[in-house]
This record gives sequence, C-alpha cells and structure tokens, in this order.
Amino acid sequence: MAAIALLGGSPEIARIVVPAPQAAPGLADRFVESKARGSCVSLIRRGKKKGEEGYGQGKASIAEGDDVLLDEERMVEHLMSCIEAPDYRPPTLPAVAVELMQLSQRADVEIDDVVKLLEQDSLIAGRVLKIVGSAAMAGAVKITSLREATMRMGLLRIRDIVMEIAMNMRVFKSEDYGDTMELLRRHATVTAHLSRAVCKFTPIEAEFAFLAGLLHDVGIAGTLLALADRKGKRKSPPDLISIWPAVDRVHQRAGEIMATHWELPHDIRFALSAHHQVMLQGHPHPLAATVAIANELAHELGAGVIPKAGQALSELTEEEADCVRAHTSVDRSGDKTLVHAREALSIDDKTMERVREEAEQVMETLSVEG
Ligand SMILES: [Fe+2]
Repeated sequence: MAAIALLGGSPEIARIVVPAPQAAPGLADRFVESKARGSCVSLIRRGKKKGEEGYGQGKASIAEGDDVLLDEERMVEHLMSCIEAPDYRPPTLPAVAVELMQLSQRADVEIDDVVKLLEQDSLIAGRVLKIVGSAAMAGAVKITSLREATMRMGLLRIRDIVMEIAMNMRVFKSEDYGDTMELLRRHATVTAHLSRAVCKFTPIEAEFAFLAGLLHDVGIAGTLLALADRKGKRKSPPDLISIWPAVDRVHQRAGEIMATHWELPHDIRFALSAHHQVMLQGHPHPLAATVAIANELAHELGAGVIPKAGQALSELTEEEADCVRAHTSVDRSGDKTLVHAREALSIDDKTMERVREEAEQVMETLSVEG
C-alpha cells in the first residue's frame, strides 16, 4: 500500500523555532472602543475597568426580556464565566475530524487508514467527495472515490477539508445568531485560504496555516453559542449590538479554551490565543503572525465579521444594523501587531504587495459555500 504524500514538505522550507507558550495569555490587552452612534450609545456603554475610579458604581442597562447586564466590563466577566466554567464544553466535533487530526500527526499513515476513517461518516465522506471533485480542486481530473480524493489531495489537505466541514456542521451554526454565524463562517474560510496563501511568500512551514486561519475566530462563535445555550427562559440571548465589544475582547481566550478541549496542536492553540498580538515573551510566533496578516487581508477584501451595507441582517432594524456596522474595530489588529507580524515573516513592502495580489486572486476563485 502506498504511503500518503504529505503537503507542505518541500525541503527548502525552514521551521522557525519559537518558545512554547508558558501560560495561557488570558484576556487580550487591547481595549476595543465602541464606535456606536446615535441611539445605540446607551446600549453600548464602555464600562469602568477594575481599579478605575467609579468601578462598580454604575448602573447597567437591562434590555426587556434579557437578564444579561449590558455594561461592557460586566459582560466581559459574564462571557468569561461562561467559557471558563468547569462544565463548559465546546460543540463536539465529529469523531472523523478528531481522529483525522490525530492521524495527520503520525508518520506511518496509509491511504487505507484515511479511507476507512472517512467511510465511517457518510455525510462527511459525501461532502469531501463533492469538494475534492469540484472543478476548483480536481480540474479536469474526475474524482469518483474517497481513495482517489485522498490520493489527489494528500492527508493534510483532506484533514483541512474535513475540519472545515466539521466547523460548518457543528460550530458556525446558530438559530439565534444566524447572520453573524454565516459571516463568521465565510470569514473563517477566507482567512484559512489566505493564511495558506501568505505561506507561499514566507519560509514558514505551512502545515497548520489553513487550520489556524479556519479556527482563529472560533472563540467568537463559541461565545455566541454559549450565550445562546444559556438564554434559559428568555426568548433570545443578548442582542449583538450590545455585546460585540465584549465578545471581541474575550474571543482569543475563548478560542484557546475551545482548542484545548479539542486537543488541537499547541501551535494552533497559540495562534488562536494571540492572533491579535503575535508576540510571545518578546518573540513573534510565526503561525500567529501568518493568521494576523491573513485576517487583516480578509477584512480588507470584504470578508470580515461585521456586516457591510447591503449584507443580510434580517433580524435587525435598519437603525440597529447601522449600529452593528459601526463596530469597525471588531477582530482588527493594531498597526504595531501587523508590523511585528510582517517582521516575523520577513515580508517587506514589495513582498506584501505580492501577498495582496495573491490574496485578491484567491478571493476571486474562492467558493465559500456551506
Ligand atoms: Fe478574524
């Protein structure tokens, strides 16, 4: 039986060694200012931080039928208590995705091992065949079996495809936050492909680039799902226009917690936890740097997490939708972070232009179906 060719293993590629994370980085350092306008200001008030004068003395607004305090600091605490609770469990990933992740880290994998695994889940197997058989992936080659699909793509690409399917099935779905989850799903897919594209211009091992891009904002989805789960007798969980700044502040930590529950590789966990800082103990993390650049490109090229004018916001009034769009800082990185990221990856201005051109081409060819 033939062994599977692993992708991303060209001999000239160097793996940059960085120190392993010593401890969970906790909440993001940055503070995202709400840029709410008009009538939304009363809903998206910036809370006092602990230690600041007046902390704990304010009154929080409570929306009708909603028992979650809207003060931003208290909302951050509420979200953190949800995702750090001992009984918190992220959505369960399909067994095939989990086992394939483990398989992909072994050196002695046979094609039959992968095919047998995929055959255990007919839904995922069917979707793999559909994706790999698409014109974008297969070109003129006809793919009719899981064996052909596996041989065509290699173990790592099949793993990435299955994880994307798993995320779309189990994570980027919510009855309560449907529009936002759809934007998140698209943003995740685009960032995954752009992360892989960024690696073409860097000496970085691309093994986890796609996955890190795909999962980097899973903390946003996980936080929203946790809120929806805990809405109790309320008709709906907290309104997005009131919680975006708080969700933004906790999403890296939430992603890290989810990735730990899913036992994902440490490099991916760190990329999730620090894609808006990049630096760890004075050293840049190449995978976090890759995701930081891909994330910014995704936002700049129209695949962000905040709706643009004209994008569906079915459950919001026009005024509320306008308010959501005002959260322009959500999931964006500061200039300093991007400078660190480019330095970490040795991307100069000229190379950055090429990266951007590549990203634009990827966006043109990308089919972002569910
Ligand atoms: Fe993002």
